[in-house]
Formats: sequence, structure tokens, C-alpha cells
Amino acid sequence: MNAIALPAPQLRPLDRLGRPLHDLRLSVIEACNFRCGYCMPADRVPGDYGFDAAGRLSFDEMETLVRGFARVGVRKLRITGGEPLLRRDLPALIARLARVPGIEDLALTTNGSLLARHARALREAGLRRLTVSLDALDPTRFRALSGDRGDVADVLAGLDAAQAAGFSSIKINCVVQRGLNDDQALPLAEHFRGSGHVLRFIEYMDVGTCNDWNRERVVPSAELRERIAARWPLVPLAPHYRGEVAERYRYADGAGEIGFVASVTAPFCGDCHRARVAADGTLYTCLFAAGGTPLRGLLGEGEAALAERVAALWSRRADRYSEVRGAERARNRRRVEMFLVGG
Ligand code: GTP
Ligand code: 5AD
Ligand code: SF4
Ligand code: SF4
Repeated sequence: MNAIALPAPQLRPLDRLGRPLHDLRLSVIEACNFRCGYCMPADRVPGDYGFDAAGRLSFDEMETLVRGFARVGVRKLRITGGEPLLRRDLPALIARLARVPGIEDLALTTNGSLLARHARALREAGLRRLTVSLDALDPTRFRALSGDRGDVADVLAGLDAAQAAGFSSIKINCVVQRGLNDDQALPLAEHFRGSGHVLRFIEYMDVGTCNDWNRERVVPSAELRERIAARWPLVPLAPHYRGEVAERYRYADGAGEIGFVASVTAPFCGDCHRARVAADGTLYTCLFAAGGTPLRGLLGEGEAALAERVAALWSRRADRYSEVRGAERARNRRRVEMFLVGG
């Protein structure tokens, strides 16, 4: 009997807009010890919010998941939360994911509050790149922005510990909101100039359903860049890779690099090659997705089965929310919460 020739599984799927899958952002926990107003404000996500530890993927499941994604072309992995350092034994997971064939770049985004305690173990586990969120240097302002939970001194101590632990790249992400922290931009730039860390300013986005977003609160990157360049002249730098979200500049006086993420005023959906998986194993193909696809049930079947499913899902993707943000339909859609998909 003749065997029926089946098409070979597509190992490098392109979505409906021709975009490959290159990055995976994996959330390891949906809980956080902060309550930032733009992500999980305390009045919407109280301390006793029903987070479900049992619903989170195990480390075995996460490793299978990452192996499956690597098979369909993922080379860059970012660990997110909630606050990922709240996940118990995180360095053990990092060590496993750092060894997955195909994963060439492993990074983690944290609010930095627990970093002083964990930096060394993370570095020893094989993590090389860190991104720390920091929206203000002023202690009172920082505290308010964190929903009255955070201490900026802890984050700065975390950055020192990360540097001492030998991280090769440390980035600082600051989400700027007009009237709330845009006055912190210059002090932050001054603080991190010459430090070797790369500060990036991010336009405030309408992610999730909790933040009562208002366009007037967005400070366009161009405006911010002009403010900074008026004090310290800037020279544009070429992107590191196609689809890099931050526009890069260097200080003309040699004090290092600074970046701007213009996600609202200059959307970058055209090159978006990022998938996001929540801590419960749900795949979201856009930061603004109305819904996701649960993958957990497949993980028992192994990485090849997962890869096939992901390739099929990716090839149906057509997300480009930031490019259609103004449209009525986009505004009124359901949206995944930021703390589930980790930014
Ligand atoms: P590198 O690997 O260091 O280049 O990191 P990155 O800039 O790709 O990732 P990071 O998480 O630091 O991104 C910075 C911020 O840009 C995020 O916190 C988001 O606010 C925003 N951002 C990142 N990816 C996307 C995306 O796919 N869509 C939108 N709309 N915003 C994004
Ligand atoms: N707009 C822009 N960035 C956001 N982040 C969270 N909420 C928003 C928002 N509304 C990003 C920040 C933070 C990361 C975890 O997610 O960069 O550092
Ligand atoms: Fe926590 Fe980050 Fe959300 Fe702030 S933005 S509440 S630190 S997960
Ligand atoms: Fe990608 Fe969606 Fe962000 Fe556009 S809005 S860059 S499609 S995650």
C-alpha cells in the first residue's frame, strides 16, 4: 500500500501578515507585590485577589513549552510576570530554560524589589540579561506609583546587586505618564547616564481593562527625546535587529545609550514577532488580545505536538492592535490583562 505523503510540519511558520515567530515572553506568575495604576490598581486587584497557584504551569511543563516554541523558530525568551521573582525556585527554572537548544537569548523583566536577594542565583543559573521597571527616582513618587507598596531604595539596591553579579546587560524601563511622572525623566536620565545601564522610556499604553487609559496622559517619545536632547545632545543609533521595539540613541558626550519605545505614536506591529504565554499556559498572540488559546492540555503530549499546534495557531495570526487603536471596534474589545502577559 502506498503511504500517503503528508506535508512536512512547517517549522518556521509565518503569520497572515508574513511575520515569523521569533520571541516568546513567558509569564511564570500572575501575582505581584506592587499595584501599579496602569497594570493592577489595588481597587481592581486587591491583595486577596483570587490568584491561583495550582493553575500555574509546573517547571516540567514550562520546559516542554519552551522546547516546543524553540522548534518553531523562537530564539529569544523573556521571563515575565506579574513579578517573576515571586515564583518559588525561579533560578532552577532559569537553569533549565537556559539549556534549551535554540534559545540564544534569555532575559527577565522584574520590578526589582526583590532583586538584591536573587540577582546572584539568577546569574549563576545562566541568566545574562535583565530589565528592571523603574518609573521614578523620587522615593515618595515611586511609592505612590507602585500602589503604596514599593521602596525605590530596594530597586536601586537590586540594580547594584545585579551589576555586582555580572549581568552583561541591564535595562531600565520607565513608563511615562503626563502629570504623574514625566518630571522624573530628566532625573532618571541623569542618574543612569554613564552607568552602563540602558534607560528606556515607554509610552503609556491602553493595555488590559484596569487602567482607565487616556491619550492625554501619553507623552510622545518625540517630545521626551527633545527634552532630554536639549540637556544632553543625542545621536541616533541603528537598531540591533529588525523589529526592535526601542528606538536607540547615544549621548553625544559618550555617556552611553538611551532608548524610547513609541508604542502609541509609532506602532511597530508590522515587525511584531512576539508570542506571549501566561503562567497558566494560555497563548496570546498580541499584548491586546481579546482571548487566548490554552496550551496546557497539550504539554503532556510532548514538545513536538506542541510545536505543531503553535505553528498552526501562529499561521492564523493577524494581530496589529496598535495600528488600529483609534478604531471604535478596537477600543471596545475585550482585552487580556497586562499582569497575565507581562508587558
Ligand atoms: P530587548 O530584548 O532588550 O530588546 O527587550 P524589549 O525592548 O523587546 O522588551 P521589553 O519587555 O523591555 O519591552 C519594553 C516595553 O515595550 C514593554 O514593557 C512594553 O511596554 C512594550 N512592548 C514590548 N513588546 C511589545 C509589543 O509587542 N507590543 C506593544 N504594543 N508593546 C510592546
Ligand atoms: N503601558 C506601557 N507599558 C506598560 N507596562 C505595564 N503596563 C504598561 C502600560 N500601560 C510595561 C512596563 C513594565 C512592564 C512589566 O510592562 O514596561 O515595566
Ligand atoms: Fe507588578 Fe509590573 Fe504590573 Fe507593576 S507593572 S503591578 S510591577 S506586574
Ligand atoms: Fe505586536 Fe500586538 Fe504589540 Fe502590535 S500591538 S506590536 S501586534 S503585541
